[in-house]
Amino acid sequence: SVLMMEVEQINKGKYEHYMQKEIHEQPESLKTTMRGRLIRGGSSKAKTVLLGGLKDHLKTIRRSRRIVFIGCGTSYNAALAARPILEELSGIPVTMEIASDLLDRQGPIYREDTAVFVSQSGETADTLLALEYALENGALCVGITNTVGSAIARHTHCGVHINAGCEIGVASTKAYTSQIVVMAMLALAIGGDTLSNQARREAIIDGLFDLPNTVREALKLDQEMKDLAKLLIAEQSLLVFGRGYNYATALEGALKVKEVALMHSEGILAGEMKHGPLALVDENLPIVVIATRDACFSKQQSVIQQLHARKGRLIVMCSKGDAAAVCAGGSGRVIEVPQVEDCLQPVINIIPLQLLAYHLTVLRGFNVDQPRNLAKSVTTQ
Ligand code: G6P
Repeated sequence: SVLMMEVEQINKGKYEHYMQKEIHEQPESLKTTMRGRLIRGGSSKAKTVLLGGLKDHLKTIRRSRRIVFIGCGTSYNAALAARPILEELSGIPVTMEIASDLLDRQGPIYREDTAVFVSQSGETADTLLALEYALENGALCVGITNTVGSAIARHTHCGVHINAGCEIGVASTKAYTSQIVVMAMLALAIGGDTLSNQARREAIIDGLFDLPNTVREALKLDQEMKDLAKLLIAEQSLLVFGRGYNYATALEGALKVKEVALMHSEGILAGEMKHGPLALVDENLPIVVIATRDACFSKQQSVIQQLHARKGRLIVMCSKGDAAAVCAGGSGRVIEVPQVEDCLQPVINIIPLQLLAYHLTVLRGFNVDQPRNLAKSVTTQ
């Protein structure tokens, strides 16, 4: 009806689509996610994290033999992005499960496990069934959801609300970045305050405080991503190479392009390049390589060189000021992003890829908020 259409327009404000609005809302949604949870007191008070919904269970979590992340789609990717920092700060092995696959295999889950269920809606059928399965097996179950009162929030023993605000676009954007931030805070909460990791913890907490502003910086790439989308509009396929903290960025960037722009896209672990993907490389197939500064940077530089050697059509994402360092004499495009603490870099790096997927979709004339055949929450198996 006309009324409904007007309500829609009011909700979208100055934006044309919900996905666009939600991408640009991220400086605010991240702030809401962190509100009241990060403490940076005066000189006497240490910087710390307070997650109210977990405080009675932290001891049990620290004693667990393994942490298992369980989710689907974008929520799985967010957990994958947070896995390295959780392993580093907790020293506990972290394994990853796609909810449906855990159920298909009836994979082992033990009483000594902490199972963390990540879900924007809190209602995804596979994730909910995996939760029931983990409860039966006696694991401590933690929920990370964006929906207060959702099934997953109600059935887990404890948890953290994402507080990203209502997300309407079928393709998840602001919930993704807020999920990563929640799991980075989870890593800080589980990893104890030891003298040896104090500097690292403080750098992460400072990085979290600055993140909304840095995301605002990254959103300025909007026009550049629109121009890139114009170049890619008629492509059949797009590969995204990442590793380390940004393996998840590669998977999530490709998922966004596939879901909304209806273009084949694949996220590839750069370390596996020689085990198959290299065969696809020629002068036509566009490839995004994520090569922002972290411990994997020199490995990514060598990946770029090898792709150049095979005449790959590269679009390299690098830290500001690194264009010359990543181009290695080859041509191709560069996306420069602001650099943050390595474990938070996935929050920044996904922004240009969200923008790219959005513009590609609009230019290709597809429905960006409700892609064909997909649903916001998949409540059936
Ligand atoms: C659907 C949505 C995705 C979402 C996935 C998991 O596929 O289209 O955007 O990532 O479900 O949903 P959840 O609500 O559990 O995070």
